[in-house]
Amino acid sequence: MNQTRLHLIETLPKTELHLHIEGTLMPEMMFALARKNGVALPYASVAEVAAAYAFDDLQSFLNLYYEGMAVLQHRQDFYDLTMAYLQRMADEAVVHVEIFFDPQAHTRRGVSFETVIGGITDALKDGQARLGISYRLIMCFLRDLGEAEALATWQAAQPFLALIDGVGLDSAEVGHPPEAFQAVYQMALDAGLKTVAHAGEEGPPEYIWNALNDLKVSRIDHGVRALEDPELVAHLVHTQVPLTVCPLSNIKLRVFDDMGQHNLKSLLEAGVCVTINSDDPAYFGGYLVENFVQTADALGLSDAQVVQLVKNGFVASDLPDAEKAGYLQRIDALAAQVV
Ligand code: ADE
Ligand code: ZN
Repeated sequence: MNQTRLHLIETLPKTELHLHIEGTLMPEMMFALARKNGVALPYASVAEVAAAYAFDDLQSFLNLYYEGMAVLQHRQDFYDLTMAYLQRMADEAVVHVEIFFDPQAHTRRGVSFETVIGGITDALKDGQARLGISYRLIMCFLRDLGEAEALATWQAAQPFLALIDGVGLDSAEVGHPPEAFQAVYQMALDAGLKTVAHAGEEGPPEYIWNALNDLKVSRIDHGVRALEDPELVAHLVHTQVPLTVCPLSNIKLRVFDDMGQHNLKSLLEAGVCVTINSDDPAYFGGYLVENFVQTADALGLSDAQVVQLVKNGFVASDLPDAEKAGYLQRIDALAAQVV
């Protein structure tokens, strides 16, 4: 990669809009927490973990993802997990994060909602104060557990609504379409929350349409299969509803054979508001900068396209318009110095 482009990627202020905090659990921390909390792991070493992280599809990843997070038991564990991620983001010039958490993956194994959200939000507040990283917190429903469980989770979240900015939908996609969650999403919208949903990662373009129409989402998470439906692409261009694309995730979960086959550049050149994000960086081989570098290299993105992707991250964020405008101006000024 040429030095100008690497410099742009590393130093421009950036956002992360598609990040599962449980997906930042690095093998070293997993072992340390397993030891501390007396949890047995199916791995003997970090090398064994690395060997196990060879996935065939989304489900094969989710199996290890839910297994790994069993080491997270105490409020401090959630704090340490989140703070380690924020420190890493500060090193990568990320200034704003909108992160997901999966309460059901913890409450179903006996860890309280308060333990989870308390540890995460303590770290987010400290990260804002000490590292200057602003944040939003998005509660995801595990779609494979169905709508009744999502409604129960919505009820459990009521005492903590002031800490939650949006709701999302994740876990096994195919066979669990968005429209099944319309009632709980309407409750979130009525409470003033933003809505997003994973759609078109493994599922068909129809799931993206249904997330837009039935769940009133302000962003689509992944959404790469939109390119199969020209009408949908035209709609996304017209409305500028953003896609939070996660290139390394898509390669590791075999949505595309290799990075050279990824359709991010086609979506960008069609005029879709595409952003780059890391999804579950501890499992997919790279944080945000690495996602930018590998994508730009494999697809031959121009400097201007890299800058556009960085700017799209702010446009697609939930930041107030005045703050967005300030960042966009700063990015243009910084880019003009190097390009
Ligand atoms: N949970 C964590 N990462 C996910 C992904 N990429 N898709 C669906 N659910 C997830
Ligand atoms: Zn995701």
